[in-house]
Amino acid sequence: MRASVRTPITLVEPTLEGLTAYANALAAGWSPDSERDASAERLTALLLDPAAFLRDIAGQERTLTLDDGSVVPRLPTRAYWIWDGEFCGTINLRWQPGTEELPSYVSGHVGYTVVPWKRRRGYATRALAMVLPLAREQGMSRVLLTTDPDNLASRRVIEANGGILAGTGPHPWARGKVKLLYWVPTEAAAATLRRGGPFRAAPGRQRGVSGP
Ligand SMILES: CC(C)(COP(=O)(O)OP(=O)(O)OC[C@H]1O[C@@H](n2cnc3c(N)ncnc32)[C@H](O)[C@@H]1OP(=O)(O)O)[C@@H](O)C(=O)NCCC(=O)NCCS
Repeated sequence: MRASVRTPITLVEPTLEGLTAYANALAAGWSPDSERDASAERLTALLLDPAAFLRDIAGQERTLTLDDGSVVPRLPTRAYWIWDGEFCGTINLRWQPGTEELPSYVSGHVGYTVVPWKRRRGYATRALAMVLPLAREQGMSRVLLTTDPDNLASRRVIEANGGILAGTGPHPWARGKVKLLYWVPTEAAAATLRRGGPFRAAPGRQRGVSGP
């Protein structure tokens, strides 16, 4: 059941100081990769070189190493932690300037995950609503999101933000499986924000994105 009290959330840029909270979430079993359990390997990388890890999760590296070992250019990225006074998860926006097209190795413009112990509080729904205006600032009138058909939570997050199912696409690694493709208009979120809902974000204690 959804928490009855609407705890405000804010989106904060990753910081070295905040990495302890991120590490604790990994140690508690949260995986930042929604396709596989990457908790242990990410925790090892974080402890090995925190500064490099921070550059990686903040999208500041120029290249990206895919699971198959190939190295590709990293798209412009805005990476945030979802924060309610504690670390709640992550949400990232990536795009190619001047086009709504994405390279084949990028599944969608926005990716998000919420730690298991903070789920079903509306955080992902609100975090997506907060990111859509940032996409609009980049000239995008809509963003592409993909999800597994059986990921009901993610589908509801997308649909609550006005996502329109546009078809299916190939699954990145599971043969015979598909991903659902949704286009989410960025203007809907702007209108929702102008009306003052569906959320209010807490004052940012770090650099980041707050609601109205
Ligand atoms: C998908 C995910 C980010 C949703 O985060 P969340 O903060 O719990 O989402 P919300 O609280 O905003 O819930 C959105 C809706 O999904 C529903 N929902 C949440 N978990 C659900 C579940 N396990 N089964 C069915 N519905 C669920 C909520 O009730 C809510 O519906 P409502 O708006 O009708 O009340 C989270 O489950 C997660 O991190 N999953 C693993 C990573 C992942 O799948 N990321 C997305 C990849 S496309």
